Amino acid sequence: MNILAIESTCDETAAAVVTDRLEVLGSVVASQDELHRRFGGVVPEIASRAHMERILPVIDETLRRAGVSLGDLDAVAVANTPGLAGSLLVGLAAAKAIAVALDIPLLAVNHLQAHIYACRIAADEDVFPCIGLIISGGHTSLYRCRDPLDFELLGATIDDAAGEAFDKVAAMLGLPYPGGPSIQRAAESGNAHAYPLPRPFLQDRENLDFSFSGLKTAVRYLLVGPGRQDFSQLQLDPQRVADMAASFQEAVVDCLVGKALLAVERTGVDKLCVGGGVAANARFRRRLEDESAGRGVRVHIAPLKLCTDNAVMGAIAIERYQAGMFEDLDLDVYPGVVRRTG
Ligand code: KG4
Ligand code: ZN
Repeated sequence: MNILAIESTCDETAAAVVTDRLEVLGSVVASQDELHRRFGGVVPEIASRAHMERILPVIDETLRRAGVSLGDLDAVAVANTPGLAGSLLVGLAAAKAIAVALDIPLLAVNHLQAHIYACRIAADEDVFPCIGLIISGGHTSLYRCRDPLDFELLGATIDDAAGEAFDKVAAMLGLPYPGGPSIQRAAESGNAHAYPLPRPFLQDRENLDFSFSGLKTAVRYLLVGPGRQDFSQLQLDPQRVADMAASFQEAVVDCLVGKALLAVERTGVDKLCVGGGVAANARFRRRLEDESAGRGVRVHIAPLKLCTDNAVMGAIAIERYQAGMFEDLDLDVYPGVVRRTG
């Protein structure tokens, strides 16, 4: 069985053809990083317009790479939550059109569940039940994942997402968008103990939430002091940039690793799956592997190419297909996060 999965929740236009045996026949990701770079973050209107231009060529190229034609598709799946409303609508409209034209089932994908399912695809074994940590540009959330379709929210950021903080701090340091890879690169020659930055909530063992806004402000005060808004005139010494990047990265990693392992400890669930763009961070990957060793927890971190947004992880729709969870053509988009799925 072949499923065409479509992803357009944020600023990547992506499609993939996957089989019910989780084989990836073809996958295309058209990144919009270039379009958003000069703004230092994703501009929703630019993103939705770019999706409009790219969605059909991306689907055509995906089918070509997969070596299948439209007639070989058995279902079409689309991420309809959470994300940017205008971006979500483009993918949903394309998926509905294909479902109607080919008279095949329409399946809905929850983008956060899909980020965790990236671990299932790579693991080649069942990873559920697990604790799911999703760390991306828009989300930082811990879920108890009873099965691929039943997720319960345990904690989340109360302000900025981890990736958003990377992007904003990178902009302050004059490093290019997206900020995560830039900070990781700069941090390689920096001292992670150079600046004493806060670790919000880390000592609070009753709490599985995150907060990155104060950490970002602490970086700002160290760079320019309170009050000043304009970083463009700032002449920063490269070593200071590297030290700040390393100190900031270490503070974020401390919070992510600390809360993920606390969730494991508190629930007694012995598998931990991590997905989302920030899961590509090399320092995070190493620290999580090191600190989970000897704790009786099996850690799955999505492979690098499935961390940032892609449509392969939309293979989670197979689970919905098998459960008979088909959608009507009045399926809508839901930009916000749901606390309990299923
Ligand atoms: O999952 P994703 O592609 O999109 C959303 O669903 O948001 O995540 C994008 C985010 C960006 O904020 C980017 O800076 C961050 O992931 N990111 C990283 C790294 N690579 C991407 N953050 C830290 N280290 C990285 N190596
Ligand atoms: Zn994402």
